Amino acid sequence: MKLEIFDNYEGLSLRAAKEIIGAIQRKPSAVFCLATGDSPKRTYELLTNEVTQSGVDFSKAHFIGLDEWVGIPPSNPGSCHYYLDTNVFRPLGISAARIHLFDALSKDLPNECQSMDETIRRLGGIDLMLVGIGMNGHVGFNEPGVSPNLYSHVIHLDEMTQNVGQKYFNGAVVLKQGITLGLKHFLETKLVLLVANGEKKAAIIKRSLEENISENLPATFIRKHANSKVFIDSAAASKLIKAR
Ligand code: PGA
Repeated sequence: MKLEIFDNYEGLSLRAAKEIIGAIQRKPSAVFCLATGDSPKRTYELLTNEVTQSGVDFSKAHFIGLDEWVGIPPSNPGSCHYYLDTNVFRPLGISAARIHLFDALSKDLPNECQSMDETIRRLGGIDLMLVGIGMNGHVGFNEPGVSPNLYSHVIHLDEMTQNVGQKYFNGAVVLKQGITLGLKHFLETKLVLLVANGEKKAAIIKRSLEENISENLPATFIRKHANSKVFIDSAAASKLIKAR
């Protein structure tokens, strides 16, 4: 794991956008898995600007969904589907055939998980995964206590995730379950980027980077990954022993 600390959110977002562009330049048919949430928002804006200006070509790339709120339709602005359409797929002009997201309305969620795992296998694995970190140390919807041996699965959402998740929605919603790629996908991905910014992430960043690697804190697995990079701003780094 490589840790890079930036003065501000803009700096880390620029760095993450450059990593994504580097990946597509190395491999035009790269398979990406890009998280939703507030943390990577600026990365996607910068990526879109760069693609518009320089004409980097994403037309051969594939995009895998990291997770989704079970029972929330893609038309809901709080869904991961809606977020990715708005912030990534439409601005980059990605065709539907190259987008592989969970159907969180499916009556057969285990089958959704199985077909996602098959898609990832068929595409030769994920080249680059960009994740945020939950206030409870989750990655995707791999909540504290999750087995690191799982591929895609449906999971009961931690109370903190149910509460914090309300920020993405216009009005209160019931968020009980998530469908997510597993830590096994995370560990098998060729390059994982984790981004976090702001004072509110300082405590969980400290725990994730300094406590023992454990399924009780899924983000600690970033340190087990053979090729991972953590980009944080100085506020998120403010509680780290070495950064002081
Ligand atoms: P955030 O979410 O980027 O909106 O803080 C991160 C996460 O829950 O993984």
